[in-house]
Amino acid sequence: MEKEFKRTLVTAALPYANGPVHIGHLAGVYVPADIYVRYLRLKGRPVLFIGGSDEHGVPVTIRARKEGCTVQDVVDRYHGIIKKSFEDFGVSFDVYSRTTSDIHHKFAADFFRKLYDDGKFIMQTSEQFYDEQTGHFLTDRNIKGECPRCHADGAYGDQCEKCGSTLSPDELINPYNAETGNPLVKKETTHWYLPLDKDQEWLEKWILEEHKEWRPNVYGQCKSWLDGGLRPRAVTRDLDWGIPVPVEGAEGKVLYVWFDAPIGYISNTKELCDAHPELGSWQTWWQDDTTRMIHFIGKDNIVFHCIVFPAMLHAHGDYILPDNVPSNEFLNLEGDKISTSRNYAVWLNEYLEEMPGKQDVLRYVLTANAPETKDNDFSWKDFQARNNNELVAIFGNFINRAMKLTEKYFEGKVPACGELSEYDRTTLSEFATVKENVEKLLEEFKFRDAQKEAMELARIGNKYLAETEPWKVAKTDMGRVATILNLSLQISANLAIAFEPFLPFSAAKLRGMLGMESFEWDSLGRTDLLEEGHALGESVLLFEKIEDETIQFQLDKLEEVRRLNAEAAKAEAAKNWKPEPVAGNIPFDDFLKLDIRVATVLSCENVKKSDKLLKFSLDDGTGTPRTILSGIAQHYPDPSVLVGRQVLFVANLAPRMIKGIESQGMILSAENWDGSLAVTGLEHEVKPGSKVC
Ligand code: 2FM
Ligand code: ZN
Repeated sequence: MEKEFKRTLVTAALPYANGPVHIGHLAGVYVPADIYVRYLRLKGRPVLFIGGSDEHGVPVTIRARKEGCTVQDVVDRYHGIIKKSFEDFGVSFDVYSRTTSDIHHKFAADFFRKLYDDGKFIMQTSEQFYDEQTGHFLTDRNIKGECPRCHADGAYGDQCEKCGSTLSPDELINPYNAETGNPLVKKETTHWYLPLDKDQEWLEKWILEEHKEWRPNVYGQCKSWLDGGLRPRAVTRDLDWGIPVPVEGAEGKVLYVWFDAPIGYISNTKELCDAHPELGSWQTWWQDDTTRMIHFIGKDNIVFHCIVFPAMLHAHGDYILPDNVPSNEFLNLEGDKISTSRNYAVWLNEYLEEMPGKQDVLRYVLTANAPETKDNDFSWKDFQARNNNELVAIFGNFINRAMKLTEKYFEGKVPACGELSEYDRTTLSEFATVKENVEKLLEEFKFRDAQKEAMELARIGNKYLAETEPWKVAKTDMGRVATILNLSLQISANLAIAFEPFLPFSAAKLRGMLGMESFEWDSLGRTDLLEEGHALGESVLLFEKIEDETIQFQLDKLEEVRRLNAEAAKAEAAKNWKPEPVAGNIPFDDFLKLDIRVATVLSCENVKKSDKLLKFSLDDGTGTPRTILSGIAQHYPDPSVLVGRQVLFVANLAPRMIKGIESQGMILSAENWDGSLAVTGLEHEVKPGSKVC
C-alpha cells in the first residue's frame, strides 16, 4: 500500500561559499526546488524548504589563499552574496543558514560522536600526500600534476579539468602542492571510516528494488556504484578548517566536508523550528516516517545523497531516508563547462546588476532548457529568442491586448460574458486540462514540461484573441466583444495562478494588473475567476524585448573571460615546463656522420594543398640552389620573413619526395615549450656552405 505522507521536507544542495552562485546552480537545483515548493504551498500541503551555505571543505580555503584573506572572510562574504542572490531570484527558502553556525558545529559533532560511541566507524591508516616544507597533508583538490590520460599539466587530484577525467591523486604524474608548487611525499595518517561495504545489501534493496521510480540518471549512477561494490569511506580529514573531530587524540583533524554538509540540512531545520515552534519540532520533520523527504541536487552530488548520507542516517538509527532525489545533469554555457575557479559563468549577482528586474526571464529560460535528462547548453541567443518570441510575443502580448482592449471598450472593468460561441467552447475545453497536466508533471519532477504546459494557456489565449479579433467586432457587436474579453481576462487570471510557481514576480505583477487580491491554486481551470464589473488594476508591460546590444555585451564578456583563461593557462604551462630528458649518449663517430651546414634563404613559400609545408630554396654555397621542404608553415604565417636569413640544415640526409617535390635535406628548428617551432640561425653571418662543428 502507498505510504500516506503528512508533510514534505525539501532540501536543496548547500552551495560552497567559495564564490557567488551562477546559472548552473539555479538551473540544476534551486529553480526546480523552488517551483516544487511553491506548488506544494499553493496546494496547501505542509512543506519546509531548507537551504544554507556549505562553508567547510577545501574550495573556501583555496579561495582565501588566492585572495590573501582569512577563510572566515571568504565564507562571510560569499554567504552574504549567495543568500541575497537567492532572495533576489525568489528562491523561497524557509531557512537559509550556514555550516559555520554554532548550532551546526554542535549538531554535526554530536552526530559524529553518536556514531563513534555506537562503534559505527572503523579506523584505517593509509599513506597520503604530504608537503614536508609546509608540514601539511594535502587533500585531492590541493594536489596538481600531469594528467595520466591527456597529459595536460595542472590536473587536480580529483579531476582533470582539461579532459574531464575523474582521477585519484595517486594517478597524477609528478604530483605537487597546487598552492606552493612543492613536490610531495607519501606519509601515513589515520582516519575514521564509514564501512559502506556493510551497507551494500540494504542499500541495494532500498534503491534498486524500492526506488525504481527515481530519475534514470540518478538510479543509473547508484546502480553503477553498487555494482562496483561499496568500500569504506573516510569521514575525517587532516585540515585546519572545519569541525574538529570530537574525539580525544584527533588534534589537527576535522570532519570531512561531505560528512558535515548534509547534516546541515538537519541543523538548519532545527534552527528554523526552534525559532518557530508553530512549525513543529525538527524531529517531526526528520524522524517521523509520515514525512516525505526530497533532496534537490546536481549530478556530482548523487553518490553523497543516495548512498553516503542515507548510510549515515541509517547508522544513526533515528532518521527517515529520502523518498526521492531529483538530480539534474549539468548546464554548459555557450558550449563550455561552467567553472567557478576559471570565472566562466553567468553570476546571478552580476546578471541582476546588468538586467535589473529580469529574474523571471532567467527562471523561465533555465526551466525551458533545464538539463533534466542530459547536459544542456545555455546560450545568450536562445535566452533572447525565448524572451522575445515566447514571453513577450505570446504571454506578454496576450495580456497586454486583453488589458488594453478592456480599458478601451469597458473602462477597465470586466465585461459581462454573454452566450458562448462554438469557438469559445473549443477554446475553453483546450485549457480545461491544464491544471491536471501541470500537477501531474510537477509531481513527477518534470518541471520543463510542466512550464511548457502552463505556457499553453498563453498560447491558447493569444490564438483566441487573434482569431476572434474583438477590435473588428467592436464596429458591429459590443456584446460579443464583452464575451471575448471576459474569456480573455479569465484566461489571464488562470495564467496568474499557473505561473506562480514558475515566474513568481511576473505572476504577482499580473495579479496586480488584474486586481486579484487572493487566489487559490485549485481554482485553476475555472472561467469565473474575475466577476463582471470587477475593476482591473493599472496595466504595465509584463515582459520587455531584449535588444541585440544587450546580448552582445554578455557575449563579449564571456569572450574576455575565455581570453584571460587562455592567457593564464599559457602562463601556467610555461612556468611548469621542463625540458625533455636528454637522450642516451652516442659515440662521437655517429655525430661526425651528420653534415650540418649553413645556408641563406633565397625564397620561401607555402606548398600548394598543404597546411604544414614550406618550400625553401637555399644558397648552400655550391652555386646550385638547394630545395628543402620543412613542416613549419603553421609557425610562419608570412614565410617571406625568412628570406635572407641564414639557417642550419642537415646536408647529407638522403633526398625524399614529398608532394611531388624532392626535399634535399632538413632545416633544423627548435621546439618551444608550447609546441611552437623556430628555425635555428647564427649569431653573425658566415659564408653559405660553412660546416657546423
Ligand atoms: O557540490 C556542492 O556544491 C556541495 N557544497 C553540495 C553539498 S550538498 C549537502 F550535502 F549539503
Ligand atoms: Zn586530462
